[in-house]
Amino acid sequence: MTENLVNRKEARIKYLDQDKISRDFPILKRKVKGRRLVYLDSAATSQKPRQVIQKISEYYERYNANPHRGIHTLSGESTEAYEGARTRLARFLNAPANGVVFTKNCTEAINLVAYSWARRRLVDGDEILCTVMDHHSNIVPWQMVAADTGVKLRYVPVTDEGDLDLSKLDELVTGKTRLVAVTGASNVLGTITQLESLIESARAVGALVLVDGAQLVPHVPVDFKAMGADFLAIAGHKMLGPTGIGALVARPELLEEMEPFLGGGGMILDLTLEGSKWIEPPWKFEAGTPVVAEAIGLRAAVDYLDEIGMEAIRQHEKKLVNYALREFAKIEDFHLYGELGPERHTATFSFNIGDSRGGIIHPHDVGTYFDSLGLAIRAGHHCAKPLMRRFKVVSMSRASCYLYNSESDIDKLVDAIHKARKFFTGV
Ligand code: ALA
Repeated sequence: MTENLVNRKEARIKYLDQDKISRDFPILKRKVKGRRLVYLDSAATSQKPRQVIQKISEYYERYNANPHRGIHTLSGESTEAYEGARTRLARFLNAPANGVVFTKNCTEAINLVAYSWARRRLVDGDEILCTVMDHHSNIVPWQMVAADTGVKLRYVPVTDEGDLDLSKLDELVTGKTRLVAVTGASNVLGTITQLESLIESARAVGALVLVDGAQLVPHVPVDFKAMGADFLAIAGHKMLGPTGIGALVARPELLEEMEPFLGGGGMILDLTLEGSKWIEPPWKFEAGTPVVAEAIGLRAAVDYLDEIGMEAIRQHEKKLVNYALREFAKIEDFHLYGELGPERHTATFSFNIGDSRGGIIHPHDVGTYFDSLGLAIRAGHHCAKPLMRRFKVVSMSRASCYLYNSESDIDKLVDAIHKARKFFTGV
């Protein structure tokens, strides 16, 4: 299914130079609890290469100024860098630059659509289709829309294998469906969803599609135009960029029709005491001083990803998935959630370790114990409570990899799993 998501111009398959990549990430040299850090929490936030950190420092050291607001040299340079970041991100995603709105994060991008599009257009009787697999950030905004408008939410279920169950899609997508809001890749299971089928079904009934790309865009080559979605929300900090920046990528004609989400300076064409007129998108949606340093950092992150090549990153992660699934299969009483194989899996693995009495070792205990070994993982409900309920657990441990992880990190993870079981159960 990734066929349409691949920007073929970017497809330069090569092996990753793991030594060079490790050298680029200063934090990976640090020790935690006396051991070399093994960072397995990139689905929460990725680490940053020095190229990104340097570009942010350079901005503050050389041309920090408010863009679009001054006629002095620094403001001009800052404006150029900020708008350059937009154009660069658009090119990376094969999206139109005037369809890229910078936001604080992915959640804000989704909320922008909920406030500026859904709340103003949807009425009682309309339906939004979400999925049981989605992160809270792609469920809560729609529940809030539903509470205010009477819109009905429906959910695509999840199979035992961790896939979206599309067997009843014809019943879920109806003439009443106005929006399909779906993740591109699960932050818990690593499942890459069947976007093509979902987008095709939505199109057939005239519904719009919003893809939560937080866990997809960092790992899979994405071509916004080829994908055919109407909205794509992304998180800069999960793709080597700094925190505090995300983006809503949208078809520009939709942005034209939408009203702003936030009002304030920088988005005004004219203002009298009686009312205001907005400038054109994307600036219409960027009220207030924009996220300049963050956009510059994100641009450096995109340059870094592009230099390596998204297809090469994808191939590297497929190798990690292959290796991890093979190694996990050898562990007794180990419960992995979502196992669709490398073609449908990012290198994110959620699991529970059996406690030999039919229960599980609590993921918080696992996470704390792993930390004592220098391994950083996430443990908990992963902001995906419906998915936890689907798998009849309260929480899971999650190890999530990125381009700087290697098979030896998977070995350390497997070793830590064995040690944790011995530590907590004595066997
Ligand atoms: N959404 C992030 C995660 O899944 C925070 O960990």
